Amino acid sequence: MNSLFARKPIAALVDEAENPNGLRRALGAGDLIMLAIGAVIGAGIFGAIGTAAAGQTDAAGHVIRSGAGPALVFSFILLGVACALAALCYAELAAMIPQAGSAYAYSYATLGEIVAWIIGWDLILEYAVGNVAVAISWGDYFKSLTGGFLNLPVWLGTGYRTALLSSDPQVHGLLETAPRIAGIPILINVPAFAIVLLITWLLLVGVRESAKANNIMVVVKLLALALFIGVGLTKINTANYHPFAPNGFSGIHHGAAIVFFAYIGFDAISTAAEETKNPQRNLPIGILGGLAICTVIYVVVGAVLTGMVKYTELDPSVHADPLTYALQRTGMQSAGWLVALGAVFSMTAVLLVFQYGQPRIFFSMARDGLLPQWAAKIHQKSRTPYVTTIITGLFVAFWSLIGDAGETYDLTNIGTLFAFVLVCAGVLVLRHTEPDRPRPFRVPFVWPVCLGGVGMCIFVMVGLPRQAWERFGWWLVIGLVLYFVYGYKNSVLRRDAASAPSSR
Ligand code: ALA
Repeated sequence: MNSLFARKPIAALVDEAENPNGLRRALGAGDLIMLAIGAVIGAGIFGAIGTAAAGQTDAAGHVIRSGAGPALVFSFILLGVACALAALCYAELAAMIPQAGSAYAYSYATLGEIVAWIIGWDLILEYAVGNVAVAISWGDYFKSLTGGFLNLPVWLGTGYRTALLSSDPQVHGLLETAPRIAGIPILINVPAFAIVLLITWLLLVGVRESAKANNIMVVVKLLALALFIGVGLTKINTANYHPFAPNGFSGIHHGAAIVFFAYIGFDAISTAAEETKNPQRNLPIGILGGLAICTVIYVVVGAVLTGMVKYTELDPSVHADPLTYALQRTGMQSAGWLVALGAVFSMTAVLLVFQYGQPRIFFSMARDGLLPQWAAKIHQKSRTPYVTTIITGLFVAFWSLIGDAGETYDLTNIGTLFAFVLVCAGVLVLRHTEPDRPRPFRVPFVWPVCLGGVGMCIFVMVGLPRQAWERFGWWLVIGLVLYFVYGYKNSVLRRDAASAPSSR
């Protein structure tokens, strides 16, 4: 039983990170902040914000979640606090254990192998499944962008599950009207699929090139949001702020649970720890700096959006591109088009960071023997984990083709919040088990911060629909079965312990 909770010594983690045959250390502090913003500002603020404001009903008219209305700004503030607490914990662990693998690596050192496996498995929800949602939202804005000249048939731009779940009779009706093969309606999201394949190719070229591309895209996304705010401010109708909180606190809570997606990503840069110069200094700066910038932007965007149009108009089944819709609805066609262009760039940057992070988590897990060794192969020339990069690309591309953004946000959020909970708890455990280990960055007021982080993240999770909990439960069960079938037997840590003469 004890061996299930075997912990990897931190010194070993640091040694692995210094291995000259490992990943290349190429990223500086500036790259990290850019990488953080690159990961954070994306489908959450461009897409999920509409669902958070308006709420959501299913095809049969049942309420899936109630909307926050203009009180959405409070959802953002609540999330800003929750994420800041978690971010502090990430920063302590990331600086202390500068290794690829993020929360997975930290929990291996703090909470033991089985918890590490669960987190690694759970992080697939954050990274790979999260990217499915981003790719679908990318496709929605791509359609607004190209609507004037590229008229893709609807069935080639709408995933099967989107049509199935939509409360809009026209979209739902595609199940009947789409072409069929062997009786199955063909409803596929070709733009979402194509962008994932393109990103996968870019990552196979190597980290430096990708970081440079990311920097350019971050500048574009900041310009797009600045344009939205600048133009939107002139179109505010204060009548739209009444009622301010149509569903009271429960709307704010449900809204926070879905728009949490907009905050996911500041933790993703910790997966680049092994490729970062001077991680002890650069990681905390990147994580906390990126988060602070994004929170301010979100609050302002939320306030402007819900002032421009009535929150009920932001229903995702009808308008999946809420920022562009709000501009066009208020007569600002060109600005709407430019923001759509910025959204497409923004989400491309997000896709890049998560498609970058997921293979590195798989890489860490394979190196530890919890996944097959072939998954840990690094390309000789580009020094990238190419096998896992390709597998991630194919997985994300497939689900983007047929998936739905809303249900994918939910699954991603619950998985990520769960990882945050374990990271916050991990900081406390490690302070107790390894109190003397050098900590280049220490969480201030460690007890209130860590416990507050755990409590707030669980609270946000509770705001997610029941279906997300059920699916998450199944996901964990499948993960545990895989662990006992493969990882438990092949774990490098347990094998080394068994072959060491003084092993227990
Ligand atoms: N925070 C990222 C986004 O909103 C995942 O796209």
